[in-house]
Amino acid sequence: MNMLRMNSVTKIYSGKKVLENLSLKIVKGERIVILGPSGCGKTTVLRLAAGFIEANGGSVFINEKLVSKNNRILIPPEQRNLGMVFQDLALWPHLSVYGNIAFGLKAKGVGKQEREERIQKTLILVGMDAFAKRKPAELSGGQQQRVALARALVMEPGLLLMDEPLSSLDLELNIRLRKEILRLQEKLGFTLLYVTHAREEAFGIASRIIILNKGQVAFDGTVEEAEKYLKR
Ligand SMILES: Nc1ncnc2c1ncn2[C@@H]1O[C@H](COP(=O)(O)OP(=O)(O)OP(=O)(O)O)[C@@H](O)[C@H]1O
Ligand SMILES: [Mg+2]
Repeated sequence: MNMLRMNSVTKIYSGKKVLENLSLKIVKGERIVILGPSGCGKTTVLRLAAGFIEANGGSVFINEKLVSKNNRILIPPEQRNLGMVFQDLALWPHLSVYGNIAFGLKAKGVGKQEREERIQKTLILVGMDAFAKRKPAELSGGQQQRVALARALVMEPGLLLMDEPLSSLDLELNIRLRKEILRLQEKLGFTLLYVTHAREEAFGIASRIIILNKGQVAFDGTVEEAEKYLKR
């Protein structure tokens, strides 16, 4: 069962073709890392999967349901059952950790009691239950990262999109949170689509690697195969 399928997707920004007939498939439960140099279109792939931007051609399926076709968005982001964590975490600065995690649940109309239970459970999951009342500015980078992760996970997404989520952290914390993401993925079973330009990070996270180059899939295979491919 494919969680995400892109079929011959083309994206043009102000006359410049960024993705050209890009096709990829992500099976439920996989951990896919998209690797590639700056400007090769990684974030664009995530934006298209999320439904933040429309393509110029091709189709996108989530859970085998057509969510966009050519330049039309058929299913908006909030109805795609996906979570997102971006590099610039975009936490609400005026809301507490708790408030940040509650935001999406409220917007979705989840009742107070269920909300409180889910938030508490998620805070414990990411090890942030002692910090619920703090504001983002009162947290370290790694702690903010955990809040961003909790905010996505509390929605129980089938597909989690992460765009360079750890690249601002020092190596030790980067490695620790990587392990954390693997643990959470194993426990919760979401499908992961993770973007980075750091090879070692990609190898540590992925069950399969996709390398983008010039708007197309240059490589698609296992971590071992990717290591060989990159050594050529
Ligand atoms: N809104 C936009 N308008 C015009 N050009 C854009 C826009 N967004 C991205 N681009 C261009 O499209 C190309 C791909 O951008 P994208 O953000 O997908 O790259 P990326 O692989 O994520 O790069 P990085 O590793 O630096 O984050 C780049 O050349 C970028 O300048
Ligand atoms: Mg990017």
